[in-house]
This record gives sequence, C-alpha cells and structure tokens, in this order.
Amino acid sequence: MKRCPVQLSKEVQEGQQAYTRWGLTYYRFFVLGFSNRLAWRCSTSRLLKMYDAYVSENHLDVGVGTGYYVANCRFPTGSPRLGLMDVNRNSLDYAAGAARRYEPEIHHCNVLEPLPDGVQEFDSISMNYLLHCLPGSLGEKSVVFDNLAPLLTRDGVLFGSTVVQDSRHNAIAKWLLKAYNERGHFHNSADTASGLERALRDRFDDVDVRRVGSVALFCARKPVKAARSTNGE
Ligand SMILES: C[S@@+](CC[C@H](N)C(=O)[O-])C[C@H]1O[C@@H](n2cnc3c(N)ncnc32)[C@H](O)[C@@H]1O
Repeated sequence: MKRCPVQLSKEVQEGQQAYTRWGLTYYRFFVLGFSNRLAWRCSTSRLLKMYDAYVSENHLDVGVGTGYYVANCRFPTGSPRLGLMDVNRNSLDYAAGAARRYEPEIHHCNVLEPLPDGVQEFDSISMNYLLHCLPGSLGEKSVVFDNLAPLLTRDGVLFGSTVVQDSRHNAIAKWLLKAYNERGHFHNSADTASGLERALRDRFDDVDVRRVGSVALFCARKPVKAARSTNGE
C-alpha cells in the first residue's frame, strides 16, 4: 500500500468522515439505489455506462466509496491493473473487498496534496462524486487535476462526475444539497458545470462536460503540458 502523509484540514475531514463501514452500507443503498435516480436524476446505471465507456485495463479510481463502479464495470480485460485511491481507510477497505478479484493496489492519499512519487502511470483515472466533497472553490479544488496529471499516461483519459449547482434541481435534490452542505458532507455551493469545464480546459486539450440531471459528467484527454512538450514549447 502506498501512503501519503495524511494531515487533514477540518473541511477535508468533514468531506470524508461520513464513510464509516455503516456509512458506506447506507451509501450503497441510499445514494446508489435511491438518490442517484430520484434526487440527482443521473442513475447509477448511467454512471456505470460512463465507466464502461472509458475504463482501461490500467485504471485508477479516486474517491472510491463502496467501490461499486470498479467492481461492476466492464474492463477490457479479465485481469486489469486496478488502483484505488482515497483518504479514508474504510472506503479503501470496502472498495478493495468489492473489487478483490482484481487484487487492487491501494493508495491511501489526500488528493488535495501532492501525491507520492514512484507510482506507475495509469491509462484511465476516474473520480466519481469526489469533487463535490472537496472544500474550496472549483478553482481551488481543481488542484486535484494537477496532482493526478503525473499519474496519467500521455494518451490517457480522466473522467468522472460531480453534483453541480447550475442545473434545474428537483425538490429532493434542493433539500439534499442544502442538508449536505450544511453538514459539510458536500462543499459544492459554488460549483458549476461551466466552472468545471473552464478548469479542465486550462489543463487538457480535449474536454467534454455534459449535464445529466443535477450532475456534470466529464471526460478529459491530452494534458496541455504533454501536448506542448511534443511541439517543443
Ligand atoms: C461521495 S463518495 C464517492 C464514492 C464513489 N466514487 C461513488 O461515486 O459512489 C466520496 C469518496 O471520496 C473520498 N474523499 C473525500 N475527500 C477526499 C480527499 N481529499 N482525498 C481522497 N479521497 C477523498 C471519500 O472518502 C469517499 O470515499
């Protein structure tokens, strides 16, 4: 297991502390079974479809939660290299259990901090429902893209989803957004799909952001630095 020094600010602590073993069981039933479809209007099967579209045989999942998506998506091979990265040990244990047939690598890290050297690159990196847990403005929390960039191969793909504010929310979504932000489980009261797109375009040449219900789904390729270095810039 790779470890980063994990020193957490109050807000980072709040964004991950709900994920106890019981919290993760609740998450599996409530978020994956109920709120994705009825509150956020972006079903778990829609999100799984995104994994099926982009996941590679050399994949890193960041902010793993229950590990549902990596345990259930269709990898292009039966024996992928799978990395799991999270700041919370419970999430890592739960997800590692769900995906145990792939013998995952475990990375215990706070993605808001620089990540350890010496980790081999991945061809795909996912971060599903991670950004809305992270404190700060979208500009500030986008440091995760900078931290993860060295772990992505030149032709690799970064993809994920996050609940944003600039969507039409139904009444359940409005209520959950308010409650989760008040409790510190979410820090997304200023997050927008357009802000996310800007943050990604600053860092990648090929970006797609689309809204499904209350959620922004994103996919980014061709890190700007890599593109520049091939042009000799
Ligand atoms: C909302 S869950 C998402 C779980 C899963 N990806 C899904 O979509 O079902 C957020 C996950 O991000 C992790 N997390 C929160 N803050 C983090 C941070 N600063 N660094 C790494 N992981 C973090 C939490 O521990 C939790 O496992």
